[in-house]
Amino acid sequence: MSAANQPDRYAVIGYPVAHSWSPFIHGMFAKQTNQNMTYSRIEAAPEDFERQVGAFFQTGGAGLNVTVPHKQVAAFVARYRTPRAEIAGAVNTLTNHPDGIHGDNTDGAGLVTDLVKNLGFEIADTRILIVGAGGATRGVLGPLLGAAPEYVEIANRSPERALELAREFGTLGNLRGCGFDEISEDGTFDLVLNATSASLQDLVPPIPRSVIGPATLCYDMAYGKGDTVFTRWAKSVGAGRAESGWGMLVEQAAESFYIWRGVRPDTKPVLQAVKEQKKPVPR
Ligand code: ATR
Repeated sequence: MSAANQPDRYAVIGYPVAHSWSPFIHGMFAKQTNQNMTYSRIEAAPEDFERQVGAFFQTGGAGLNVTVPHKQVAAFVARYRTPRAEIAGAVNTLTNHPDGIHGDNTDGAGLVTDLVKNLGFEIADTRILIVGAGGATRGVLGPLLGAAPEYVEIANRSPERALELAREFGTLGNLRGCGFDEISEDGTFDLVLNATSASLQDLVPPIPRSVIGPATLCYDMAYGKGDTVFTRWAKSVGAGRAESGWGMLVEQAAESFYIWRGVRPDTKPVLQAVKEQKKPVPR
């Protein structure tokens, strides 16, 4: 996109965006793989999102990561969408192509890579409980079901949203939607995935303890310094393992980086760095 020797420009766009780890993560990827690129932050209120995206690409920007609360709107901004973005109804990666802006969604792939590659969790034939039925769940359901679990139950505070997702994704796997008081208690789940935003309020959804055992991996899509309220709770009720979403964050970034640069970065040192909170204070 840029003139010779000028670095290609990338950014993360969100509201708020000051807290975003993406510049740090992509900065490490770029250094590691020797890419001539910059990566910055763009704060855009919802009413200003489309204008800011337009301005970024019209001035030669190469790619954007899209974060909360713009992922659904970004799907409409893209001229072309990949099948996984189409299924998710949301886009987190926009790329400038000669034929228009391409939209992709790397969140689900990031989660699956973290589970399989980093955590050694084989998804095929497992029983999975997903807690929450909002945008975060919608974003990962396609790739998760693509890895062929035996059964996926989606439980949500508002049961109708879980039922709707189960209906919508029913052709992709063995799915059931329900309210918290209807969670199947006939054994433990192999994976319990917290996809609610309850952690932000320091709350844990009312999940029956009986569905968690020593062979259960509890995974919080949220992340923070040390344990999240969900991972702490999971350990206290006897989960075999409890992990927060740092790995998903870094792996979805690596997938975006690959789309843009055609190179797969080594995520291991980057994941280690973000977990250790070795980030400079955002400017
Ligand atoms: P996101 O894009 O983060 O998924 P969202 O679409 O607003 O955001 O969805 C938030 C999810 O967290 C929903 O499943 C929501 O439940 P409702 O659909 O019933 O609103 C869930 N959630 C938020 N706060 C919660 C809480 N305190 N306890 C349980 N679930 C909660």
